[in-house]
Amino acid sequence: MVVAIDGPAGTGKSSVSRGLARGLGARFLDTGAMYRMVTLAVMRAGVDPEDPEAVGDVASTVELSVGYDPDTSSFFLAGEDVSAQIRGDDVTRNVSAVSAVPSVRTRLVDIQRAMAEGPGDIVVEGRDIGTVVFPDAPVKIFLTASPETRAQRRNAQNIAAGLADNYEGVLADVRRRDHLDSTRLVSPLRPASDAVVVDTSDMTEAQVIDHLVDLVKQRTGAMS
Ligand code: DC
Repeated sequence: MVVAIDGPAGTGKSSVSRGLARGLGARFLDTGAMYRMVTLAVMRAGVDPEDPEAVGDVASTVELSVGYDPDTSSFFLAGEDVSAQIRGDDVTRNVSAVSAVPSVRTRLVDIQRAMAEGPGDIVVEGRDIGTVVFPDAPVKIFLTASPETRAQRRNAQNIAAGLADNYEGVLADVRRRDHLDSTRLVSPLRPASDAVVVDTSDMTEAQVIDHLVDLVKQRTGAMS
């Protein structure tokens, strides 16, 4: 069974999806990390992220290996562990342009579908999982939170990581990425018509995870 989790950055989606996978004893797939890996490959190849043809060429040959364990990050690009590099500012700045290229999406969606095959359940986290990648997933969740809440969370993470306190800058970046992700022509960010929308603005991470575990159990219990 696939549990699809979509939503914008800063909703706690990654930690919540990992927690849900742990709670369900399921595998976990972070598709945003895959777009970040292609972006890193594009930058390392010296290719302009705004050049769709050249970006597509890099994506067609890139060698990705991604782990399923919700407790460890395992992202290898041509055999090299790039877990830290894919979270860097340069990658974050360029990933919207790279992920808007149709051939990049086709390649990664194929890999994601193949990876979801196999034993047991899997929680798949991204932007288009319930709408495009697994439109038949029995459980679809769309996480939201206000831009201000998301910027506060991201800014607090930055400060904890030793970066500058820059709430206004982070808020502007959250808005910029929301706009790019929700207005792009291919697979824009939006909830599937049958997704359960959960606003995490006033919830702790543990509360969201408990809520989602209940929701999945209710849904799957109702199906059996
Ligand atoms: O979740 P994240 O911030 O690591 O995602 C990085 C970028 O990848 C984000 O700007 C949107 C894009 N993305 C996407 O287009 N489709 C997905 N399924 C996952 C992420």
